[in-house]
Amino acid sequence: MSWTIRRATVDDTDAVAQLYDDPSAYAGTLQLPYPLPSTWRERLAQTDNTVHLLACSGDEVIGSAALHPNLRSPRRAHAASLGMAVPAAWQGKGVGTALLAAIVELADNWYGLARLELTVYTDNAAALGLYKKFGFEIEGTLRSYALRAGALVDTFTMARLRERPR
Ligand SMILES: CC(C)(COP(=O)(O)OP(=O)(O)OC[C@H]1O[C@@H](n2cnc3c(N)ncnc32)[C@H](O)[C@@H]1OP(=O)(O)O)[C@@H](O)C(=O)NCCC(=O)NCCS
Repeated sequence: MSWTIRRATVDDTDAVAQLYDDPSAYAGTLQLPYPLPSTWRERLAQTDNTVHLLACSGDEVIGSAALHPNLRSPRRAHAASLGMAVPAAWQGKGVGTALLAAIVELADNWYGLARLELTVYTDNAAALGLYKKFGFEIEGTLRSYALRAGALVDTFTMARLRERPR
């Protein structure tokens, strides 16, 4: 299976909104059903603080990952959060691994970040497996953190720490 990783632009608005229209994609994140393209257009237009990457198979967008560095907070400049989703049809094929590898490479070698952080639902086995594979560790549990399909569910906070390059 082959795909490419590239930066998302506003021209990808419809494709990204469609990706997040997948129940398994929005249920695993904090996105809502029936995503509005205008919401995604606004997010994709904000290029100063977020690095939004896409995995593509030909013209098809098959995965999305975003790194959110804290560029405006000197005391949090060593850290960034991230979020990602792969639609059901493409899950389990290595797309998430390729996207996270690209995000981690950027964070480590180009932004020089010491801490990558995220939240993940405690029952999201695929995401937990993926993040642990890249060295993320569970730091704590946030109880009743978010509403998901009618129930308040718990999340883990996870982080991956590394020495900043000298
Ligand atoms: C979590 C998600 C991004 C993983 O992407 P993916 O393309 O399916 O992942 P990959 O195929 O690259 O698999 C990566 C690793 O995840 C783990 N994994 C994948 N599917 C799994 C499953 N069903 N059960 C347990 N572990 C699983 C494995 O450790 C796997 O590594 P391995 O193949 O080397 O063993 C994807 O499933 C997804 O988008 N889910 C819905 C949205 C979501 O949950 N986003 C994350 C929010 S925190």
